[in-house]
Amino acid sequence: MKNFTRLFAIVIALFMLATVAVGCNKDSDKEEGKKESKEIQVGIVLPTKDEPRWIQDKTRFEDALDEAGYTSEVLFSQGDSAKEKTNVEALIAKGIEVLIICPHDGAAAAASVEAAAAEGIKVIAYDRLITGTDKVDYYVSFDSISVGKAQAQYLVDKASGKKGQPLYLYAGAASDNNAFLFFEGAWTVLQPKIADGTFVVANSTEAITLKDKAKLSREELGKIIGQVTTDWKPEVAKSLAESNLTSAKADAKGEVLILAPNDGTARAIADTFKSDTAVTKFTVTGQDAEVPSVQYIIDGKQSMTVFKDVRTLVKDAISMAKSILDKKDVDVTAKTNNGKKDVPTKQTEVVTVDQANVKAALVDSEYYKADEFQNLK
Ligand code: GAL
Repeated sequence: MKNFTRLFAIVIALFMLATVAVGCNKDSDKEEGKKESKEIQVGIVLPTKDEPRWIQDKTRFEDALDEAGYTSEVLFSQGDSAKEKTNVEALIAKGIEVLIICPHDGAAAAASVEAAAAEGIKVIAYDRLITGTDKVDYYVSFDSISVGKAQAQYLVDKASGKKGQPLYLYAGAASDNNAFLFFEGAWTVLQPKIADGTFVVANSTEAITLKDKAKLSREELGKIIGQVTTDWKPEVAKSLAESNLTSAKADAKGEVLILAPNDGTARAIADTFKSDTAVTKFTVTGQDAEVPSVQYIIDGKQSMTVFKDVRTLVKDAISMAKSILDKKDVDVTAKTNNGKKDVPTKQTEVVTVDQANVKAALVDSEYYKADEFQNLK
C-alpha cells in the first residue's frame, strides 16, 4: 500500500511537471510569435531616393539605429503618396511600434498616419510636417523659417549695392509645408529690399503685387509659390529658369540674385544662368549641403548652401523613438501647429556655408571626408 501511494505520488508529480513544461512551451511559442510579428520596432518612410539629401538621412538612420540596438526598416515613397501609404501599411503589418515619416505630401500623409495610430503606433513627423490630423505625436525638424532667412540674408549681403538689382525667386513643392516656411523666412528678409526698389523681382508678378506686405498669408505665399515652384525637381527648375531668362527684359540681366530653394534646383538654375551670356554675374543660394553642391561651391559655381546636419536630426528622432519605446518622457523644445493640433516639436539650427567656411563646416566637422572633393583648400 505504502509502495502504491509512493508510485501514485510520483506519477502525479511527473504529470504536473509535464503540464508545466507544456505550458512553458506554449508561452515561449507565444513569445516567439510575438517576436516574429514585432520583428521591426522602428519603421522609417522617406520621400525619395532621387535626391541625395534623403540618401544621407537613410545612411545616418541605419548607422544610428544599429548602434542603438533597434530593428528598423527604411522605405522610400518615390514622390508618390499612394506608394507612401502602401509603405506605411507594410510597416504596420511588420509590427512596428514607432513610425518615423517624412511625407511626400504633408496633407495627403494624414491618412497613413491615422492608419498607424489606429494600431497604437506612435508617429514622429520627420523634417516635414504632416498637416490636418491630430494623429501626429511628435515633430523633429530644422528651423525652416531660418533656412529661408539665411538664404535671403546671403543675397542681401552679396548684393551689388546698385538700386534695381534683378532678383529671381524660386520655391520648393507646394505639397511640402517646408517650402512655405522657407519662402516665408526668405520673404521677411527680402521684402523690405523689394519694397524700396533695391531689388526688382524679375520672374513673379504676384511677388511684385505683394511687395509692400511684410507678412504674407498662406494663401498669398501660395500665389507666389505657384508662379515660381520647382516642385523640388532639377528638371522643372531648369525649364522654369530657361523660360524666365527667355522672357526677361534686358535690364533683368547683368548682375543678378537668385533665391534657389535647395541644392538640386540650385545646380540646375546655376547652370542655366551661366549659359546666358547677358548674365554677367549671379549669386545663387541652396540648401542641404549635398556633395555635388559642395563641389559646386568649391568650384565657384554655386554661392552658398544651408547646411542641415542630418546627424543631429536623426539623433533627435531616434532618441524620441527610444523614449517612446522605453515609455519615458520625450524631450521637446517647441510646439508647431499643423492645422489640427500643436505638435510637440524638437528643432535644430542650421548653418550657412560658402567658400569661406566649407572645409571647417563640412570636412573638419567629419560630416564628409576630404577625399569626396577636389581642390578643397
Ligand atoms: C524639404 C527639406 C529640404 C529639401 C527639400 C527637397 O522638405 O526640408 O531639406 O531636401 O525638401 O527635398
